[in-house]
Amino acid sequence: MHVKEAEIVMSAVDPKQYPDTGFAEIALAGRSNVGKSSFINKLINRKALARTSSKPGKTQTLNFYLINNSFYFVDVPGYGYAKVSKTERAKWGQMLETYFTQRDTLRHVFLVVDFRHEPTEDDIQMKDFIEYYNLPYSVIATKCDKIPRGKWNQHFYRIKKALNIPSDESLIMFSKETGEGFEKAWTLIEGILAE
Ligand code: GTP
Ligand code: MG
Repeated sequence: MHVKEAEIVMSAVDPKQYPDTGFAEIALAGRSNVGKSSFINKLINRKALARTSSKPGKTQTLNFYLINNSFYFVDVPGYGYAKVSKTERAKWGQMLETYFTQRDTLRHVFLVVDFRHEPTEDDIQMKDFIEYYNLPYSVIATKCDKIPRGKWNQHFYRIKKALNIPSDESLIMFSKETGEGFEKAWTLIEGILAE
């Protein structure tokens, strides 16, 4: 897909603030600092439309990015950030549950994990949560530029096994630095939008 237009249209915490255009949505979920916002920026060829940070917890609301006036990427605040109070964590859980359960236009979730590490308990919980709500999803394993190629297979299959991913096609290795996975991600997205 050639991205001609990309704009942030809404930062929402409440369903009343979600956009009402009816366009399809693809949500990005994953640990804080894993690279969800960077993934969006890379796909749309923008340096910083989605705000990123080397410190975890940058994205705090559901951010809707309208692409080519036809679908949204929804950047979801990350989990697993230790310095978050119980109250904030509960608010986050509520916001996510509301969005995942009540949003008819949500078509697919990209669960973003760190290619370098074995998926965490939080990652597995998120996967279970997504499956529990019967949402179609794929896994993006990002920051693969940080692992030498000779070890890619080993890391790939470790993640595939830990998350019990049924097919190789549902796990995409990605890097915002090298562009690895860019084409695969877009092919997947085009398939999702064509359904
Ligand atoms: P929250 O908004 O806090 O949930 O984080 P996020 O998942 O949106 O992460 P973000 O995109 O802000 O990236 C976090 C840090 O990881 C930044 O310093 C990025 O530059 C870095 N990063 C993201 N993707 C990659 C990647 O593919 N390779 C490398 N080397 N660094 C990356
Ligand atoms: Mg972010």
